[in-house]
Amino acid sequence: MTDDRERWALILGASSGMGEATAIALARAGYRIAGIHLDFRAALGHVEEVKAAIAAAGSEALFVNMNAADDEKRAEALRTLAARFERSQADGRHPYLRVVMHSLAFGSLLPFIADDPKGAISRKQMEMTQDVMANSLVYWVQDLYRGGFLEPGSKIFAMTSEGSSRVVPTYGAVSSAKAALESHVRQLAMELARRGSGVTVNAIRAGVTLTPALMKIPEHEAIIEASIRRNPMGRMTTTQDVAEAIVALSGDGFDFVTGNVIGVDGGEFITG
Ligand SMILES: NC(=O)c1ccc[n+]([C@@H]2O[C@H](COP(=O)([O-])OP(=O)(O)OC[C@H]3O[C@@H](n4cnc5c(N)ncnc54)[C@H](O)[C@@H]3O)[C@@H](O)[C@H]2O)c1
Repeated sequence: MTDDRERWALILGASSGMGEATAIALARAGYRIAGIHLDFRAALGHVEEVKAAIAAAGSEALFVNMNAADDEKRAEALRTLAARFERSQADGRHPYLRVVMHSLAFGSLLPFIADDPKGAISRKQMEMTQDVMANSLVYWVQDLYRGGFLEPGSKIFAMTSEGSSRVVPTYGAVSSAKAALESHVRQLAMELARRGSGVTVNAIRAGVTLTPALMKIPEHEAIIEASIRRNPMGRMTTTQDVAEAIVALSGDGFDFVTGNVIGVDGGEFITG
């Protein structure tokens, strides 16, 4: 069956790494892009480059610089997207969010135990990490579903990592957020399926990938070394690997695939 609706992708974390590569790849595949990101002065030049790459693909970039975990900002961003959808509708088109990608990297990288309490994670840091990297998925999907942005065929992807079931000394808060995120994916997949929504939800477990978020992890050199040594395909994952997988999984034929953790890692996970 042909889908003549206007396909949009909402990328949470569109200005860097996996989100950036996927936004550009989806633009090249004919999607219009709504991008949420959190960037300050020094990084704004790069955001313009991402938007230019989307425009160069013949698409459109509706970007909002905001904290994706802020309820009021989320409501404001969705009003902006609804207004843009209304313009398409006025022109006789039928826009919908074919793809939603949760690709936010914003976590505390402190151990749980340290001799000096200042060197250990605080309640505030733990909750902020959980809120941005896991729980925000639920709040966005709640509003997107109620707001009518999701329709049969919509596909939601949340970026997870091996950290959901493995330990790294400074990754404790992010590990717990990834475990929660995978649980949220299962729950959303089940609830949306039971409603007959036609919306699927899956987690994408990328292998170790060179991005600004990876380089912030204090143990990144050891993580990179282990990735190259372990990966049966002999190299690290790239943002392009993730982008291509999401473009493919967003295509036709994946409507019965929901509630999974899908590895995009060249088999890295199975060697751990
Ligand atoms: N890099 C890896 O090795 C790797 C592996 C597996 C999974 N992941 C996951 O993939 C996702 C993306 O990571 P990445 O490596 O591409 O990171 P990145 O640092 O390159 O990009 C992160 C993006 O999130 C945005 N962002 C961060 N906090 C935000 C907030 N509060 N509100 C709005 N936007 C915010 C940034 O602006 C940026 O666009 C993360 O969930 C990460 O845990 C990364």
